[in-house]
Amino acid sequence: MIRFLYQRALKPILFKFSPDFVHDVFVLIGKKCHLWPMKTLIQLFYGRSKAKYINVDGISYRGPVILAAGFDYNAHLSHSLDAVGFAGEEIGSVTAKPCKGNNPPNLKRLIKSKSIQVYKGLKNDGVDTIIQRLAKQTRPNDFVMGISIAKTNNEDCSVLENAIDDYLYSFKRLNETNTGDYYTLNISCPNAFGGETFTRADYLEKLLEKVKSVDCSKPIYIKMPINLDWNEFTGLLDIIVKYKIHGVIIGNLNKKYDEIDYPNEVDQNNYRGGLSGKPCQKRSTDLIRRTRQYCPDLTIIGCGGVITKEDALEKLDAGADLIQLISGMIFNGPHLINDINNQLR
Ligand SMILES: Cc1cc2nc3c(=O)[nH]c(=O)nc-3n(C[C@H](O)[C@H](O)[C@H](O)COP(=O)(O)O)c2cc1C
Repeated sequence: MIRFLYQRALKPILFKFSPDFVHDVFVLIGKKCHLWPMKTLIQLFYGRSKAKYINVDGISYRGPVILAAGFDYNAHLSHSLDAVGFAGEEIGSVTAKPCKGNNPPNLKRLIKSKSIQVYKGLKNDGVDTIIQRLAKQTRPNDFVMGISIAKTNNEDCSVLENAIDDYLYSFKRLNETNTGDYYTLNISCPNAFGGETFTRADYLEKLLEKVKSVDCSKPIYIKMPINLDWNEFTGLLDIIVKYKIHGVIIGNLNKKYDEIDYPNEVDQNNYRGGLSGKPCQKRSTDLIRRTRQYCPDLTIIGCGGVITKEDALEKLDAGADLIQLISGMIFNGPHLINDINNQLR
């Protein structure tokens, strides 16, 4: 019923408006969804999740599905998202200084290709404001909150030392204020000034050396790029293992526009930012499988192109411990989360 309503009634209406606008409306509504009449209504619609608890790096998740970074980038929804079955969310990416992001439009739906073209440029209110906001929110006890940290999107941070200091500032502030259950270092944002500095193994090593000098008892993950060749990718994995980082999220957006199923959906002059959804699916699953063989003990969070419950199972079978998603929720509807939860019961 709820699937039918989303596909036949709600989605056709939502898709008439720009994705930026729909996102903002959802966040506006989501901010109020912690109020019990709203939350009870949503839970009635979507049903109770029947997933089992999973323990990953000492954190208990009440299901395998987390909202990926980029949707709740300003941290407004941590008290509401459990209503649709999410076990947790990743807030951000947050940066040391506020970022106004790239000039809009920041998002474009590629409907046939089941993808969102993302050109956001790390828009967010900055780590200090986000810490204050989160301090005022009461999330459910068993709702896990990860925080994704990126470098501020400005010219200063294209200098290596400044970029490292920038990550460190956010990381230390979050850690000392005890904000969040785990931290992710997003090294693979396609829209940042100066490019993806830390997808170079020697630069990543410099960053991790500093990060590991901070006394932090929470798990740390690295959000991996999916467009490197395997040699470059293992170069990063070697550093990640050397510095005893808990795990990786595989992975970020796809930057290869020739991998869209329907290339006509994007004008070649508009190849900017990265692609979510279906174009990420095969690359991320292949990398998960190879990483599981290469580093059997590393935590892997599978992300990219989980549009159906079968896609989630495929990633878990390939070796992922947990799943993150955004696009599947947009193209298929929020019932996808409980579909996955119930399938894995
Ligand atoms: C609108 C949007 C914004 C995003 N912003 C971020 C971000 O700020 N930080 C990040 O690490 N990933 C970001 N991503 C990437 C997602 O976290 C995820 O890696 C990617 O979308 C693949 O998952 P999906 O196919 O389930 O959407 C963003 C994705 C979307 C769709």
